[in-house]
Amino acid sequence: MHLTSEEEKIFNGELGWAYQVSMRILVTLGELFGASELIPIESAHISGVSYKTLGDAPIDFFEALVKADGKVQVPSTVNPSSFDPEYLAKRLPEDHVKKQLHVIDLYESMGVKATLTCTPYYLRQPRPGCHLAWSESSAVIYANSVLGSWTNREGGPSALAAALIGKTPNYGVHKTENREANVLVKVKSPLRNETDFGALGIHLGKLLKNEVPLFEGLPNYTKDDLKQMGAGLASSGMTSMFHYQEASGREKLETISVEAKDIQDTIETLSTSSESPDLVFIGCPHCSLREIQSVVQALKGKKVKRGIELWICTSSHVKKTAEKHVNTIKGAGAYVLCDTCAIVTWIKKLGIDTIMTNSAKTAYYTPTLNEVDVTLASTTECIEEACK
Ligand code: F3S
Repeated sequence: MHLTSEEEKIFNGELGWAYQVSMRILVTLGELFGASELIPIESAHISGVSYKTLGDAPIDFFEALVKADGKVQVPSTVNPSSFDPEYLAKRLPEDHVKKQLHVIDLYESMGVKATLTCTPYYLRQPRPGCHLAWSESSAVIYANSVLGSWTNREGGPSALAAALIGKTPNYGVHKTENREANVLVKVKSPLRNETDFGALGIHLGKLLKNEVPLFEGLPNYTKDDLKQMGAGLASSGMTSMFHYQEASGREKLETISVEAKDIQDTIETLSTSSESPDLVFIGCPHCSLREIQSVVQALKGKKVKRGIELWICTSSHVKKTAEKHVNTIKGAGAYVLCDTCAIVTWIKKLGIDTIMTNSAKTAYYTPTLNEVDVTLASTTECIEEACK
């Protein structure tokens, strides 16, 4: 990999340990994946914030970076943490809360903005065609496919290293040739709602691995539907982008057809419970303003019943812009939580054994990451269950 003389100096430690170790991470990755150089990035988004998923091991590393005066060189944001300050923080063990706040503090000391959301694009939308180093798979696939920005699927450490250097190695989908579709997906099923889109993503992710699909026949979709589909694709597979608009050369592509039965089977397989849930969870990935509006619509004239919790998870940024809706949701007995989600908090410690969700990504991960049962259903069905 070619390094400029400035990059060589950083590599050799002339600017200090924090930048040296970051540069070494980037060069090692670049050489592994055949990059020829480092390219500037417009922003970084770093996963690995929740103390539940992180544990103690990386904290020493973050402390060492802070001690060595490491500061990010580009606007940098972080994924959700393990609780929100208003509701869950009070229900979790004090030492967990302390450790989590320490992790957030360390990121902030490096100049990272504590956005604590997996939808950083609602806060600051990256420009089409610009290079990024993002490490939340649902945000990566959304950025590449819907926003037209260019980012590999980074891990937490490589996104942090890229943030500290302000550059990333030019491999993977940073290269035009790797962004071309190599499989055609014909969707022959009507998709009724965001949950069907998410299930389509989970079904295809398993078949595609890391191929780039071009969709034909995607019925009426919103950006929120594409967000759910992308989150599903990136959960069960390694795909980091898809195409859904016209493209030439499709006749040469291998074709996969998706039928209504594939969607239904996926929803049934993901649903491990038909019991009444302890928690109904909407907001994976974090809700957009529009999704919050549809929750308000579905909640009209209803109250959340006793013995069940209804969480709507979003970013603090969207929560602020949706103040009126947030008050309506609270009035119905539900919680609008920011900075966290049901996957990255200690669900079991909160006394929850069964979740119902509209998110195929949550349904895919929750039985293993949270060890609780799950039912996958549309937003409307979720709200009905919470209130019936
Ligand atoms: Fe976001 Fe949590 Fe889902 S981090 S993508 S809401 S698992």
